[in-house]
Amino acid sequence: MLTRLTWTLALGGLLSITVHAQSAGDATRGQEMFKQRCAVCHGDALQGLVGPPLTGTEFARTWANPSELRDKIQKTMPQDDPGSLTEAQAGDLAAFIVRAGAANAAAAAPAAPIASHDTPSFPPAANLAQLMRGIFFPSSNLIFEVQGHDPGEKKGDKPYEPGANDNFSWAQWGAGIYSPWEIVDYAALSIADAAPLLLAPGRRCENGRPVPVEKDDWKKFTQNLIDVGKAAYKASQSRSQEAVSDVSNDLADACLQCHERYRDKPGGTTADPSNKAARCF
Ligand code: HEC
Ligand code: HEC
Repeated sequence: MLTRLTWTLALGGLLSITVHAQSAGDATRGQEMFKQRCAVCHGDALQGLVGPPLTGTEFARTWANPSELRDKIQKTMPQDDPGSLTEAQAGDLAAFIVRAGAANAAAAAPAAPIASHDTPSFPPAANLAQLMRGIFFPSSNLIFEVQGHDPGEKKGDKPYEPGANDNFSWAQWGAGIYSPWEIVDYAALSIADAAPLLLAPGRRCENGRPVPVEKDDWKKFTQNLIDVGKAAYKASQSRSQEAVSDVSNDLADACLQCHERYRDKPGGTTADPSNKAARCF
């Protein structure tokens, strides 16, 4: 099996240059390793067992970029022993997963369209301020926290131990259940998945005005927040403090842009600088 691609370019019949480029990985070697290290959680046919399926359109969309898939595998898998694979091994595994996914897609029947009358509706329980305080405020604070604290930081020489997570948390209670980088993952995902709640019809702002869900700029601000949440997840998956810090600036912008337009109105008083009466208009 070739582990690199070789191109020979003949220039003017005189000069010949050989370019070696690292290929995406060796799928056949990846298949062997998958059986040994991954199938126990993801299934022999990648169908999912303890862990999620590693095939299907949703998976292919999320991990369309093979080098992101390789990094995800190398930094976080196998879940019970992350960091134990070399980059080359992760590349072989990624190549195998991509090859298997392509074969499954070719064999699959076209997906049936989702009937729109089956779409459930979820009338909101919270007003907008409650939603912000409950979801977006804690989640983005956790991402901002990465600017000053590396979630991969070790205390002394000891690796992370469940229950010992006292230097990076969104709250004291429950802080030891998931590892620091995982809680950054969940925060980023919750921003992306919760953002569409900003468009749910029927919600009111604290001052009683309807949330302006039909306004084009409101929709655009919401879409920005979804996109930044997804970008934050990708960055977190790379387990790079720098990458998450970079995205956290975009996150702050996404919040600010909408707040400048719909929340922080001029005309406030010293007691209430935000002029709550003028919000959501
Ligand atoms: C102990 C169980 C376990 C083992 C072993 C394991 N995984 Fe996972 N895997 C999970 C769980 C749980 C998730 C979901 C959480 C996450 O994305 O980190 C996951 C997620 C993934 C994802 C992302 C799926 C998605 O939908 O985004 C990939 C890719 C992946 N695993 C590849 C591998 C590979 C390759 C191996 C073998 C080297 C492996 N896993 C071994 C449990 C496991
Ligand atoms: C699409 C527009 C929009 C986006 C995007 C948005 N917000 Fe808001 N936010 C508002 C509006 C409007 C209010 C006022 C809600 C009310 O008064 O009911 C608000 C209120 C808040 C409040 C409550 C303030 C108070 O009075 O206690 C917090 C906290 C908040 N937002 C945080 C965030 C964070 C953090 C983000 C980004 C992750 C964000 N928001 C993104 C529109 C937005």
